[in-house]
Amino acid sequence: MREPSRSFSSGWAQGSLLVCSLSLCVASSFHSCPHLCICNSDSMEVDCSGRGLTAIPPDLPHDTRILLLLNNRITSLAGGPFSNLTSLHRLDLSNNFLDQLPLGLFADLGNLTEIRLRNNSIRSIERDLLQGLQQLRRLDLSLNFLSQLPPGLFDDLSTLHWLSLRSNRLQSLDRMTFEPLASLENIQLGDNPWECDCNLRDFKHWMEWFSYRGGKIDELQCTLPKDLRGRDMRMVPVEMFNYCLQLEDENSSGPVEKPSLPCTKASPALAEPEPGPDCPQKQRYRPTSVRRAIGTVIIAGVVCGVVCIMMVVAAAYGCIYASLMAKYHRELKKRQPLMGDAEGEQEEQRQISSVA
Ligand SMILES: *[C@@H]1O[C@H](CO)[C@@H](O)[C@H](O)[C@H]1NC(C)=O
Ligand SMILES: *[C@@H]1O[C@H](CO)[C@@H](O)[C@H](O)[C@H]1NC(C)=O
Ligand SMILES: *[C@@H]1O[C@H](CO)[C@@H](O)[C@H](O)[C@H]1NC(C)=O
Ligand SMILES: *[C@@H]1O[C@H](CO)[C@@H](O)[C@H](O)[C@H]1NC(C)=O
Repeated sequence: MREPSRSFSSGWAQGSLLVCSLSLCVASSFHSCPHLCICNSDSMEVDCSGRGLTAIPPDLPHDTRILLLLNNRITSLAGGPFSNLTSLHRLDLSNNFLDQLPLGLFADLGNLTEIRLRNNSIRSIERDLLQGLQQLRRLDLSLNFLSQLPPGLFDDLSTLHWLSLRSNRLQSLDRMTFEPLASLENIQLGDNPWECDCNLRDFKHWMEWFSYRGGKIDELQCTLPKDLRGRDMRMVPVEMFNYCLQLEDENSSGPVEKPSLPCTKASPALAEPEPGPDCPQKQRYRPTSVRRAIGTVIIAGVVCGVVCIMMVVAAAYGCIYASLMAKYHRELKKRQPLMGDAEGEQEEQRQISSVA
């Protein structure tokens, strides 16, 4: 199977001597196989894997269909190394040391059907990186350091069948990011530190819809909160997230409402802001719950007020009663000793008068 590709470079070396001796060295473009790589002119495959490369070879044949660069030490893809490779179908950069992917890296590669970036050090991806890849069917981003995906990243990938995000640092995903993946059949999400809280609730709905459609998900095991640790998010009852609606209500009654911003921005030219398909319907049932909350507050306030007034009245009554009683007792006490003294004086006077 691999025999022709292995012997190709040496065969070409011999052939080129002949050709060059005839001073006809302007060979067909694919015959310029990069140093250290193995080229197969039948499958248009250029195999540069495991060669200790630190950069992409500059002289890649422009009609390359398969480019294998795995198991190297490539750290950077700056300078548009794949521009002109318009025929490229498969690109494998697995097991390298890439930490970022420059914008426009795949801009000319509209024929790509498969990208493998497994086991690199990619921390973030630009929103427009995968723009225009309308033939892409497989995308492997497993074993990287991705902690989030920008919304809109997968907008052009309506043909994607297989996606791996395994073994990254993802805590949460946004449902909207995944909606454009209309052909997706298989997604790998395992081995990420998932936080199974309100932020993941909408994505849970997406996963349920995806599974219902026949899609396959490997696993989504919660890391946080503690009481859900180790449980698969898909098995956690949706009722566990009812409290999220309450939280949203509380947030939406505040002055700034972040989730509604992209919706109003999407249609700035329209006179009446029409909620686009991206707008969540949450807003529709918010007002009733807000009204309910306000009603509760008013009733609680009225009850509190009545109780307070009653307490004040009771306290005032108690005070008045106590002061009246105190006054009465004081007067009673004052009068008794006075009466006793008066009698004594009268007796004394009687005694004096009798002596006299
Ligand atoms: C790509 O092709 C253009 C013209 O088609 C050429 O000027 C340019 O040098 C090529 N770039 C590379 C990196 O081969
Ligand atoms: C990831 O890549 C590194 C370096 O290329 C390699 O040593 C390691 O074995 C790879 N790990 C996996 C799981 O493939
Ligand atoms: C796909 O490859 C063909 C040649 O194989 C090329 O003519 C065409 O422009 C490429 N398409 C895109 C979108 O680059
Ligand atoms: C509510 O707002 C707080 C901070 O403003 C935020 O941390 C929290 O995630 C929000 N909750 C929801 C459900 O949006």
